[in-house]
Amino acid sequence: MSEKMGFWKASCSVLLVCFFVGLCSMYQCSAAEADANQTVNLIVNASSGRPIPETLFGIFFEEINHAGAGGIWAELVSNRQNTPSNIAPWSVIGDQSSLTVSTDRSSCFDRNKVALRMHVLCDSEGNNICPAGGVGIYNPGFWGMNIEQGKTYKVVIYVRSLGSINVSVSLTSSDGSQILATANIVDSDVSNWTKKEVLLEAKGTNPNSRLQLTASRKGVIWFDQVSAMPLDTYKGHGFQKELIEMLEDIKPQFIRFPGGCFVEGEWLRNAFRWKESIGPWEERPGHFGDVWMYWTDDGLGYFEFLQLSEDLGARPIWVFNNGISHRDEVDTTTVSPFVQEAIDGLEFARGASDSKWGSIRAAMGHPEPFDLKYVAVGNEDCRKKNYRGNYLEFYNAIKRAYPDIKIISNCDGSSHSLDHPADYYDFHIYTSASHLFSMTHQFDHTSRSGPKAFVSEYAVTGKDAGTGSLLAALAEAGFLIGLEKNSDIVEMASYAPLFVNANDRRWNPDAIVFNSSMHYGTPSYWVQKFFRESSGATLLDAKLQTNSSSLVASAITWTSSVDGETYLKIKIVNFGNRQVSLKVSVDGLGLNSLLSGSTKTVLTSSNLMDENSFTDPNKVAPDRSLLENADRDMNIMLSPYSLTSLDLLTESNNIRMPQTNSSARPSI
Ligand code: AHR
Repeated sequence: MSEKMGFWKASCSVLLVCFFVGLCSMYQCSAAEADANQTVNLIVNASSGRPIPETLFGIFFEEINHAGAGGIWAELVSNRQNTPSNIAPWSVIGDQSSLTVSTDRSSCFDRNKVALRMHVLCDSEGNNICPAGGVGIYNPGFWGMNIEQGKTYKVVIYVRSLGSINVSVSLTSSDGSQILATANIVDSDVSNWTKKEVLLEAKGTNPNSRLQLTASRKGVIWFDQVSAMPLDTYKGHGFQKELIEMLEDIKPQFIRFPGGCFVEGEWLRNAFRWKESIGPWEERPGHFGDVWMYWTDDGLGYFEFLQLSEDLGARPIWVFNNGISHRDEVDTTTVSPFVQEAIDGLEFARGASDSKWGSIRAAMGHPEPFDLKYVAVGNEDCRKKNYRGNYLEFYNAIKRAYPDIKIISNCDGSSHSLDHPADYYDFHIYTSASHLFSMTHQFDHTSRSGPKAFVSEYAVTGKDAGTGSLLAALAEAGFLIGLEKNSDIVEMASYAPLFVNANDRRWNPDAIVFNSSMHYGTPSYWVQKFFRESSGATLLDAKLQTNSSSLVASAITWTSSVDGETYLKIKIVNFGNRQVSLKVSVDGLGLNSLLSGSTKTVLTSSNLMDENSFTDPNKVAPDRSLLENADRDMNIMLSPYSLTSLDLLTESNNIRMPQTNSSARPSI
């Protein structure tokens, strides 16, 4: 071996060692750290505890990232009712010699007068023969329509023409070459706007399909309010099944909707207004959400949010605009129309079916009132000039008309008391992983009197989170354990944002990622699943005996509505890079308690920054196994950077149920 080669070999070895040492300190390196294992005791007292509010963990749905339009709402057509200035994403099939397409204001729907005008110049005979298949328009949906073989799609079209029509309605591949389903609308008289419906059964599958409307005869045809929906939606209420089942799986206790900034608008004129989003979908004008910068047809409107809440068994929490947007504000002296709008919205949700607004709800198919008991006056507006003044107008009017409604203020009351009345105060936090993890103690010293906290938006963001990392998820789990422990004062919490269409990432990270045909949960989504039994459970005293600040743990008992059994659930986050040997002792279980069929579920991965993806959707997902050594005293190995849940089946009569005393300090 030459001297030079020897030098390089030695240098490379040093470099390699440095590299691996570096890696070990960044992530886990079990061999090198086996010696450094810490042994930590966790003492759980199962003989008494304190009730966790039924409401604790829920979800926050915002129309952001095309979460609703092109997401959970199953409408396949994008820009269904034609936006005033642009037919996009509708495109033309054929060239300028065979047709022209434009918009005019001839729609029969008063609240959105724009219709699409298609002038076919070619014909079935003569010297300008239409190409085979005809000419027309197509809509690509929201980055491709997912059309599945054997499924049926209902297409609705409003059409008008001075002559007779023969329009082919087809679901095709993105270039039109593969026809998945087709039907013809033939009519000799559509001189007045006429609603047409066709059912198309797909003969093939293509996640990148389009809807096309074509004709081969000369004439002018107007189209408006073109809709295509799968017949098979969640509980038949128009929601995309697979995505809503992801929500069902985390058993949300409430849904806060419809935003966020979406409620505020960049400008008031573009804010979400509930009255524009109810009634027959054709009559809804739609609006441009100028914060997240896309058009929504508002097919997913106020009624649909209430319906979804009911279908999921979750309490609706309605956030309404309080006369304040990001850039403009209504003065308190002139805010009364906004207040009336909120009062009307409550009547729509809760009023008798013969009341003014309740009758519209009834006409939409829901004569019974919805169970709306929570409202938030605005979003993140506490520091705005008119917030307090406006808030009080809403507060007083709502309490007068609906004394049982709980009102949520935008002002944070966690560190000092509010200067206005409220049932809850909103708390939002987006921050780094280490900071959020340390916020497990955020509410430890919050006053126990006054309004309760609603942590309605939280997440790790920035480089720690990427588009959904294990690191972010573990920090969130640590934070949530802190909320569980402080659930005498924190009554509700929801991660944000919930959904992202991968084609329109306006905000990272998000809990559930989807495109037209696929979806997966980020590690943060999986964390939610570890907490789904917490709402309404009993919080036990769980003490970690350690100097390490990288470990947090909680213990609950909860009773399954499926098998009626009572389970003891212990959750531990190891936010450190070392394996931990955990000695768990459960005191206070009766002598004959059963601990059989117990399991251990772990969320971890080989790299702290690991994420899930469409190609590897379960790279970071909970791994559940039988807990062979389940006992009152047991040793558990906690992987570095992990969330572990021990689910122990006990005898329910050995768990003493606690007394309710929500104003007391937590016993932990
Ligand atoms: O969750 C995303 C956004 O973050 C919400 O719209 C807003 O409330 C917050 O600033």
